Amino acid sequence: MSDMGNVVNVAQVSQYSPFRYPGGKSWFIPRLRKWLAARERPRLFLEPFAGGGSASCTVALEGLADHVVMVELDHRVAAVWRVIFGEDADALVERILTFEMTPESAAAVIASDPQETFEIAWRTVVQNRVSHGGIIAPGGGVLKRGEGGKGVLSRWYPETLARRIRALHAARHRVTVLQADALEILEGYLYDPTVAAFIDPPYTAGGKKAGSRLYTHSTLDHERLFALAAELDDPVLTYDLNSEVRALAERFGLQAKPISMKNAHHTVMDELLIGKELAWDTPEEPPAKTSRSRRRTAKEPTPAAVTSSPG
Ligand SMILES: C[S@@+](CC[C@H](N)C(=O)[O-])C[C@H]1O[C@@H](n2cnc3c(N)ncnc32)[C@H](O)[C@@H]1O
Repeated sequence: MSDMGNVVNVAQVSQYSPFRYPGGKSWFIPRLRKWLAARERPRLFLEPFAGGGSASCTVALEGLADHVVMVELDHRVAAVWRVIFGEDADALVERILTFEMTPESAAAVIASDPQETFEIAWRTVVQNRVSHGGIIAPGGGVLKRGEGGKGVLSRWYPETLARRIRALHAARHRVTVLQADALEILEGYLYDPTVAAFIDPPYTAGGKKAGSRLYTHSTLDHERLFALAAELDDPVLTYDLNSEVRALAERFGLQAKPISMKNAHHTVMDELLIGKELAWDTPEEPPAKTSRSRRRTAKEPTPAAVTSSPG
C-alpha cells in the first residue's frame, strides 16, 4: 500500500541545484533530512548516481555531513559539478549572466563539440535549461513553446542559476566530484558506519525502458548494485515501483516501501524507498498553528535564499 498520507509535492521543495534533471529527486529531500537527523552525523555523504545532485547539494549547503562525494559517469554532467566546485565557478556565473539567450544562440552552443571541461560544462548548462524535461541524452529535443510560449527563455533564469552556483561554490571545501562508475566507487565504502549513501540509479531494472531514454549512461548491473548496497552500512535507494526491484530488495535483505509523490506535472507517482531499516521515514506532522512562530529576519543568512525561484 502506498504511503499517501506523506505525499511530497515537488513544486514545494527547496531547490539548490542548477539542473533541471530527469528523474530528479526533489521529493526525497524532506526525507533526506529526516534520515540524516535520525542517525549519527555522517563523516561522508556519498551520492554515486549524482545526476542533478539535489541530495548532495542539500547536504553540502545545509551542512548535514562532514563531506560529500558526488559520483557521475556522464562527463557532461560531471563537468558542470567540477566547474561549480572548482576554480572556474565565477567564470561560469559570468557567462550565464551575460549570455543572450535566443533560439539561435542556444542552438549554436548545443551544436558545438567542446573538449575542455569549462566549455563542456557551459554547453551542458545551456542544453539542460532549454531541452524538454532537461534531457541531455541523444534524442532530447529543445523547447519550442515552453512555458507561456516563451520557448528557450521559459526555463532560463540567469539570476537564479548564478545564485545557486555561487552558494554551492561557497561550500566547495565540503564537496568532492568524481567522474567514475558508481559500482567501482561503492566498493571502497563497504561496512563503514560513518558513510551514508544515497543511491538513485537509472530505472532500468527488469528491462524497464524509462531510464534508457533519459540518460546517456543507463545500462547497469542492478543485481550487483543491490549486492553492494547490502554490504554498505547505511544505504538508501530509490527505484521505480516494480516487482523485479521488490524481489531484488527482498533477496538482499533490504526493506522496500512504496512512496507516493506529486511530480512537476501534478501527477501522483509511486516510487520505492529501499534501505536496511526505514523506521526514520515517519509521516509528516501537520504544521503547528501558532501566531508566535518565529520569522526569519531579512538579514539572517539562510540557504533558502538560493531556493526561492522555480527550478
Ligand atoms: C536517476 S539519475 C539521478 C538523479 C539525481 N538523484 C537527481 O536528483 O538529479 C541517475 C544518474 O546516474 C548516472 N549514471 C548512470 N550509470 C552510472 C554509473 N555506472 N555510474 C555513475 N553514474 C551513472 C546517469 O548519468 C544519471 O545522471
